[in-house]
Amino acid sequence: MAMRKKFYIETLGCAMNVRDSEHIVAELTQKEGYEPTETLEEADLILINTCSVREKPVNKLFSEIGVFNKRKKEGAKIGVCGCTASHLGEEIIKRAPFVDFVLGARNVSKITKVLHTPKAVEVDIDYDESQYAFADFRSSPYKAYVNISIGCDKQCTFCIVPHTRGEEVSIPAELIVSEARRAARRGAKEIFLLGQNVNNYGRRFSGEHPRMNFTDLLKAVSEIEEVERIRFTSPHPLHMDDAFLQEFATNPKICKSMHMPLQSGSTRILKAMKRGYTKEWFLDRAAKLREMVPDVSISTDIIVAFPGETDEDFEDTMDVLERVRFEQVFSFKYSPRPLTPAQNYADQIPDEIGSERLSRLQARHGEILDEMKADRIGQVHEVYFEELRPGGMVAGRSDNNMLIQVEGSEELLGKTVPVKITEAGRTSHRGAVVA
Ligand code: 5AD
Ligand code: SF4
Repeated sequence: MAMRKKFYIETLGCAMNVRDSEHIVAELTQKEGYEPTETLEEADLILINTCSVREKPVNKLFSEIGVFNKRKKEGAKIGVCGCTASHLGEEIIKRAPFVDFVLGARNVSKITKVLHTPKAVEVDIDYDESQYAFADFRSSPYKAYVNISIGCDKQCTFCIVPHTRGEEVSIPAELIVSEARRAARRGAKEIFLLGQNVNNYGRRFSGEHPRMNFTDLLKAVSEIEEVERIRFTSPHPLHMDDAFLQEFATNPKICKSMHMPLQSGSTRILKAMKRGYTKEWFLDRAAKLREMVPDVSISTDIIVAFPGETDEDFEDTMDVLERVRFEQVFSFKYSPRPLTPAQNYADQIPDEIGSERLSRLQARHGEILDEMKADRIGQVHEVYFEELRPGGMVAGRSDNNMLIQVEGSEELLGKTVPVKITEAGRTSHRGAVVA
């Protein structure tokens, strides 16, 4: 029997990219006869699924594919996929002529085409993949990512995503529900709904479809009997209306962790970012959430040193950090991106000031996490176990998204079990199964 061709894939960036990679893997294995390898040198096809949200990963891309080119076996192909592929397009082949094809973030299903077209560049951001008529693959048997929309209609002035993933199109609810049902029946009790802006769901479909908003979609997915847990990312604070918070709070299948990307605590900066909400609105939504769901964990994204950010604006961000006491913070120094309005704003902030603000924010957040630690010890949480860890440990997540490890074996995988926290850390905890 002929040896199957092998591919190696590296995935950077967000959950959308992880899901896109799963689709690419599905197409390659089911339609092109490939099998995966973890060893670059034996791959016939090397893929990198890129992120372009900040500048660093873009620079890393070119050094990385250079290394791939040196290490690859004779005749192996290199493909650049994802968001950086979308916005740089053929520029990539100009800068790195050994690249065989470029496949944009909204063109995943064309992987089988570009594979056979020398120097192909497929980066059309109007291309409609919302019907998902392509092969399916899941990297975890316990959890299923399900796309609910593609693209993003927000015009946040710092963000390149609308240029890499295009206009927002919602995937028809029947498709989402049937995909979730199929995955849950195969054992993925946790469904993770994905979109750039999930709670704007239903704004636009590509064909005639019954209207449905995100709150109703959550209800529909929770009605699938085999689904035990529902998570989603990312919601937008602007669209956190009362009906949505109510559904979040009262639907027992919806996991009690909410991502609320703040970006800035200053209303003035939020306006310059075109975020559409104020500091007060954000604080009101977070307070309401904490009141309705006392055990909720709230995570956020924060950008420091956006153009024009004064010390006073930054203090507003610190103030929100203090008041909301997020369980998790992803914080970034503003990075000017091509095709975005903010790159041309006056008052770009010097790098040293950005670094200072970032370290102050991260240090304070670290202290807040330390302050929270003591309360965690002795708490009992329902943990859904998903992964074996070295040293005889098994890891899973509590309903409110804490990463918890216990001693154990495969037997725990795919099960939801009460666990008492015995040692609390900043980002993960240890516990013991409650007998
Ligand atoms: N600079 C820094 N951070 C950014 N993000 C998006 N664009 C930029 C940028 N130009 C951050 C935002 C977003 C997260 C995914 O990345 O906080 O929520
Ligand atoms: Fe995801 Fe945005 Fe990065 Fe694209 S640019 S991979 S959408 S985070």
